[in-house]
Amino acid sequence: MTTRISTRVSAVEPSPTLAVDARAKAMRQEGVDVIGFGAGEPDFPTPAHIVEAARQAASDPASHKYTPTAGLPTLRQAVATRTSITSSLGIDPSQVLVTNGAKQAAFETFATVTDPGDEVIYGTPVWSTYTEVIKLAGGIPVPVVTNEDASFHLAAADIEQAVTQRTKAILIVSPSNPTGAVLTRDELRDIARLAAERGLMVVVDEIYDNLVYGDCKFSSILDADPSIADQVVIINGVSKSFAMTGWRVGWMVGPEDIIRAATDLQSQISSNVSNVSQRAALAALEGGMQCVEDMRLAFDRRRRLSYKLLSDMPGVDITEPEGAFYAFPSVKQLLGKRLGGQLVTSTAQLAEIALEMARVAIVPGEAFESPGYLRLSYAMSDDLLELGLQRLGNLLASATAS
Ligand SMILES: Cc1ncc(COP(=O)(O)O)c(C=O)c1O
Repeated sequence: MTTRISTRVSAVEPSPTLAVDARAKAMRQEGVDVIGFGAGEPDFPTPAHIVEAARQAASDPASHKYTPTAGLPTLRQAVATRTSITSSLGIDPSQVLVTNGAKQAAFETFATVTDPGDEVIYGTPVWSTYTEVIKLAGGIPVPVVTNEDASFHLAAADIEQAVTQRTKAILIVSPSNPTGAVLTRDELRDIARLAAERGLMVVVDEIYDNLVYGDCKFSSILDADPSIADQVVIINGVSKSFAMTGWRVGWMVGPEDIIRAATDLQSQISSNVSNVSQRAALAALEGGMQCVEDMRLAFDRRRRLSYKLLSDMPGVDITEPEGAFYAFPSVKQLLGKRLGGQLVTSTAQLAEIALEMARVAIVPGEAFESPGYLRLSYAMSDDLLELGLQRLGNLLASATAS
C-alpha cells in the first residue's frame, strides 16, 4: 500500500527534547508534580524593555505589514553590527537573513548549501535538529564521536579523518547543546585551517555565545581566522541569550550569495518573521547587555550547583559544563543495574524510570546520538533545581546490582 506521507518527511524524527518537555507538561496538567529538566529554554521572562518595545510595535500600524523577507533593515543592521563585534570583521547588513528562530536558519542553511549526497561532518553528542535538516536537504550526516576524555571538544584532527571527496561542510555548535563544551580560539583556528585547505564550508551555531562561564571565553571562528569568511555561515538569534524563545527570531550571517539564495527560499516558505517580534529583537540587540549578564550569572550559579550535586551521585560521572545551560553526565555505570525492580538496559529506559518513579523529566543521550548520557537543562529556579536533583539522586542511590 502506498503511504500518504512522502518518504522524505516520514523519515523526519520528531524533536526528542520537545517531546520530553511536552510529556512533562501533560503530566503536570494531570496534577502530577513533575520537575522538567527537558526544556532548552531560559525560565526568565523576556526583559521588560524588550516587551515594551513589542507592545509599542503592536500598536503601530506600520508593524501590521510585511517587512522585506530578509528582515527589517534596522534589525539586519543591528545583527551585522553585533556580528562585527564578535567576529572582529566588518559584516554588511546584506550578509544577514532574519529567520523564524535559529531553527529555521539551520534548515535554510543546509537547504541552501547541500546537494544530494553531500556529506556534512559534525561532532556527537549533537542537537538532533541538525541531523534532520541535513537529511532533509539530501545531505549525509557524518558523525565524529567526542567524549569526556576531550571534554567533548571536537578536534580538527578527528574531523580530518572523516573528510572524503563528498564532504561539503563542517558543522560546529559552540557552546554546545547538549554538552556545554566551548571550543577555544586555537581549536577553531585549526578547524578553519582544515576547511581552507579542503575548500569546505563551515556552519557555526553560536546561539549560546553569551552563556559561557568560569575561565571560558567565547570565540568566533571568524575572529580565529578571518581568511575563511567566504566559507562560513553563522547561525544565531535572540532565543537563548535574551530569554526570547517564544518570539521566534534568529538569523543566518554569511557570504552574500548564500544569504541571497536562502532569502529567495524563505520568500517562498514563510516570508518575513513576525514584524512585531523583529522590533522586539531590535530592542534586545540595541538595549544593552546587562539583562543578559544578570541571567548568565544566575545560570552560572545553577551550573555550579548541578555540577556539584550530580558529581556526588552514585554511578554518575560528569564533565564540568563550560557554556549554554545543560549538564550532560554519563550514567554508563548504572546500565546493567536494577532500579525499581527493572533491569536498566539503556539511558532511554532510565529516563522513563526517572519520570515514573522520581517525577523528573530528563532527555536521554539517545536523543543526541550518545547513549549512556543524560541531558539536564538547569534553566530553572534554584529551589526547583535542588529538589529535582535530590529526587534523581535518591532514585539513583537505590540502584542495586542485577
Ligand atoms: C544549538 C541550538 N541551536 C538552535 C536552537 C534553536 O533556537 P531557536 O529557538 O531560536 O529556533 C537551539 C534550541 O534548543 C539549540 O540548542
